[in-house]
Formats: sequence, C-alpha cells, structure tokens
Amino acid sequence: MAKQDIFDDETFFEGYRKIRDNEANANILFEMPALFSLLPDMEGKTVLDLGCGFGEHCIEYIRRGAARVVGIDISKKMLEIARKENSDPRIEYIEMPMEDIGMMKTKFDIVTSSLAIHYVEDFSGVTSSIYELLSDGGIFLFSQEHPLSTCYSGNADRWIRDESGNKQYLKLENYSREGEKEYRWFVDGVIKYHRMFSTIVNSLIQTGFILERMEEPLPDEDILERFPQHSDLFHKPDFLIIRARR
Ligand SMILES: C[S@@+](CC[C@H](N)C(=O)[O-])C[C@H]1O[C@@H](n2cnc3c(N)ncnc32)[C@H](O)[C@@H]1O
Repeated sequence: MAKQDIFDDETFFEGYRKIRDNEANANILFEMPALFSLLPDMEGKTVLDLGCGFGEHCIEYIRRGAARVVGIDISKKMLEIARKENSDPRIEYIEMPMEDIGMMKTKFDIVTSSLAIHYVEDFSGVTSSIYELLSDGGIFLFSQEHPLSTCYSGNADRWIRDESGNKQYLKLENYSREGEKEYRWFVDGVIKYHRMFSTIVNSLIQTGFILERMEEPLPDEDILERFPQHSDLFHKPDFLIIRARR
C-alpha cells in the first residue's frame, strides 16, 4: 500500500512548523486538550504514540507518569525535532511507518495517535495491529481530521461566503466517496485517506474494540473571544477523537 512522507518535504515542513509555532493553532487550542482529557491514568504505563511528530505528546505522557514511551514516525525531519526538543531517557523515537507496527514484539498499555491516521490507506490493517499490540484492557486513543474535512480533494474554497468574505455555509462534497484525496496544503500533491464516520466506527468494532467515547472538540467562550476566527467550528468540526478499549 502507498505511503507518502510529505512532512520531509522542505517547503511543507517549514509551513507546518510555522502553524504549529502560532499560539492560535487549533492543535494547541482544541485538539490536544480534548485528546489529553480522554487519557487514562498514565502512572507506570507503557505507551506507543503513532505519528509522534515533534514528540510533544510523548513528553506529556512522561510528565503524566508513563514508565516508557515509544514514538514512531515516518518523517526524519519530525523525529529530528522530537529528539532535540522532547527527549527523555524513558522515550524512544523510532523512524517507522505505522503500517509496519505488526513487526513490534512488546505489548503496550496505551496506544495513541494524534492527527496522523488519516495519512494511512489501510485503516483496518493498522487498527488490527494496534489491537494485537495492546495488553488486555489496553486503550487506543486517537484523533484524526474530521471526516467532514478529509472528504475534499483539490484546492477550491470549501465555503460559501458573504460579501466581506465571512464563512456562511460549508460546501460539502463527495462525503460518501472514500479513499485517496489529493489536495494542496503548503505544496501540491498532499495525500490523505477519507473514510466515512460509519467506516471508522465499524472498522474498530469489527477489530474487536469497545468504543468508550468520541469527541468533536469546540472552542469555549474564552477561546472565541481571543480567536474569533475559530467560530467556523460551529459549522463543521475539524477533529474527531475516539477512545476505544481492547
Ligand atoms: C499532523 S502531524 C501530527 C504530529 C503529532 N502527532 C502531533 O499531533 O503533534 C502528522 C504526523 O504523522 C506522520 N505520519 C504520516 N504518515 C505516517 C505513517 N504512515 N506512519 C507514521 N507516521 C506518519 C507525519 O510524518 C507527521 O509527523
């Protein structure tokens, strides 16, 4: 199955780094707090983080008491930053596509993945490997771009706007056409894999997971006051977060 390593593209990497350094970025404001709110007690636990990027989640798991954390990512550049900025003797960073985790031998108490799994074509293959890697009762907690976002391809404006350019309605297209979607994000040719909400949920159930919680995080009053641009999330959530148990 195809695997794209777009985060190692120089232009893409610089663009992505800039948005992650911006204090108004959606990861810091909504996605990370919502994901962390669903974490189980991490004291003494072993954790695998898939698509760990800069390692911000891995270091947070250590702060929360994890005994050992393995972060894997397909991108050399992302791991370079992780090793420089978020290292700890209890964290191991490994360059590896998550499609290959079936080769890993040790079990984990918790597997997480933040905004990375929509880059994977074979969702049910990866979730089956995660199920095998988890100890009994172990937790799989992941976020991904919301299915109402992954359905788009191309670069056309996704919004109907008023004369001042304010977003009024979403132009939803091809929600029920699953599979590879190519579009522009910093560079042309970025590939994501779109799955309908029902496909994601049914894959997890078929693998054997018990679904415990789902979130579609929204900004609170305080965030909206500081960053009113995020009110468009009330038209369409950007993220989907699911907590499942083996
Ligand atoms: C949007 S970033 C998120 C990084 C980090 N999880 C976070 O939330 O800060 C997506 C990450 O997934 C990684 N990635 C994409 N496809 C992957 C794959 N097939 N296997 C492992 N990592 C992958 C990218 O290299 C990138 O670091």
